Amino acid sequence: MKTIVCIGAGYVGGPTMAVIAKHCPEYRVEVVDVNAARIAAWQTDSLPIYEPGLLDVVKAVRGRNLFFYDDVEDRIDRADIIFVSVNTPTKGFGEGAGQAADLQYWERTARQIARCSTKAKIVVEKSTLPVRTAEALEAILHASENDVAFEVVSNPEFLAEGTAIRDLEEPDRVLIGARATPSGQAALEEIVKIYAHWVPRENIITTDVWSSELAKLTANAFLAQRISSVNAISALCERTGANVAHVSRAVGMDRRIGPKFLRAGVGFGGSCFRKDILNLAYLCEYHGLPEVAAYWRQVVELNEFQKRRFVRSMLGAMFNTLAGKRIAVFGFAFKPGTSDTRDSPAMAICELLIEEHAQLVVTDPRALDNAREDLKDAPDCAFTPDPYEAARGADAIALITGWPEYRELDYERIFRQMAKPAFLFDGWNELDHEALARIGFHVYRVGAPPLEPPPEST
Ligand code: UDX
Ligand code: ADP
Repeated sequence: MKTIVCIGAGYVGGPTMAVIAKHCPEYRVEVVDVNAARIAAWQTDSLPIYEPGLLDVVKAVRGRNLFFYDDVEDRIDRADIIFVSVNTPTKGFGEGAGQAADLQYWERTARQIARCSTKAKIVVEKSTLPVRTAEALEAILHASENDVAFEVVSNPEFLAEGTAIRDLEEPDRVLIGARATPSGQAALEEIVKIYAHWVPRENIITTDVWSSELAKLTANAFLAQRISSVNAISALCERTGANVAHVSRAVGMDRRIGPKFLRAGVGFGGSCFRKDILNLAYLCEYHGLPEVAAYWRQVVELNEFQKRRFVRSMLGAMFNTLAGKRIAVFGFAFKPGTSDTRDSPAMAICELLIEEHAQLVVTDPRALDNAREDLKDAPDCAFTPDPYEAARGADAIALITGWPEYRELDYERIFRQMAKPAFLFDGWNELDHEALARIGFHVYRVGAPPLEPPPEST
């Protein structure tokens, strides 16, 4: 029985290893993390992350061939294959601050692997890393005093939160990059063999390490670029009276373009897009390509503009002052289907609203604990899981995460309990705007003109 050890029990490591364990019963899969509380939670039915379908998979394999441990160093040498999925946030200090990846957790892991290994291993990079990091990883591993053979393989993760299990079960492709040497190709085959348990061979593509690393950054940059493109058009729609949903639909029906990732909203969030694009831009800059760097950076700048624009539109609609006004913030997760709030547009929007001295009441079906933590230093912020409670007495609702639950609410009841005039800013065009306007709401949409209530209801 071969042993896989995955370092990092987060949004990537946890679900990926659960699915590998499910399909590969002849492998022992161990997930390790320095965060003992997180590891403890993986052993209960309250998993540390919310991901639809994850608990069922974990329950089916936990204790069979999936195990969770917090003694990272003791586990390393048991592994034949190590997956590294530790976090690589954007650097907050020094050279490349705000742009380059912060590689300290990753390098610490590389050194741990080097120090604790006495037998040959394949080390698989799963964390999104700057291109050519595999080279640095090799340098650290080969500098190890223990005379151990390591082979470094890149296997970037393409799962999206909220659909992680489906994305892992039926990936569009699995990408594996390795060196062209015989030992590199043998390592590559080992990793192909794992995925081939459930992924058709033609969907497992192989390449060199650097192309694999760059493909991951590029895929995320392209996805984010589509969102910024449609959000840019949404701004123009609001000025001209066009409707961005209609524009997106018409554009997306061109088969060369395709319909996905053309939804205008309050901007993209999550731990990947911003980080990966800034990383890509930094890399271009470093390699003497400032024009290419500026091109990609603009995707992020437009995203910042979209969040500011949303708050400006609130301010403009509500008589240019939000001071002391109560605003119900519907949704704080970076997108529906997850408890993750990393880089959520909600955070940036709440900060801007707080700067305007608004009083916020935040509600979210899954991400309230993270919201509390993210906003712990913010003044005038309350939290409730109940959207009716959040909206009671509010001057406005700002819908920032498009949870489907928000479509099902009784908006007549909500309207009755709000201050008047009652404003609703729908950051995702999620709700039935005509019906809301008929109830009496002043409805503001993204990429379409506002809807006013009929005169008799105001
Ligand atoms: C993304 C990639 O999709 C995934 O392949 C990669 O491995 C990690 O990064 P994730 O960040 O989990 O996944 O979610 P995703 O569904 O891509 O959404 C990212 C953000 O884009 C969300 O904030 C979402 O609301 C936003 N988005 C998405 C839009 O604004 N418009 C769209 O049309 C689609
Ligand atoms: P991702 O979305 O990339 O999975 P997360 O932050 O959810 O990111 O998960 C990364 C995990 O990696 C965290 O739980 C963190 O505690 C863990 N981690 C970071 N550094 C190390 C390390 N040196 N050894 C073990 N685990 C680590």
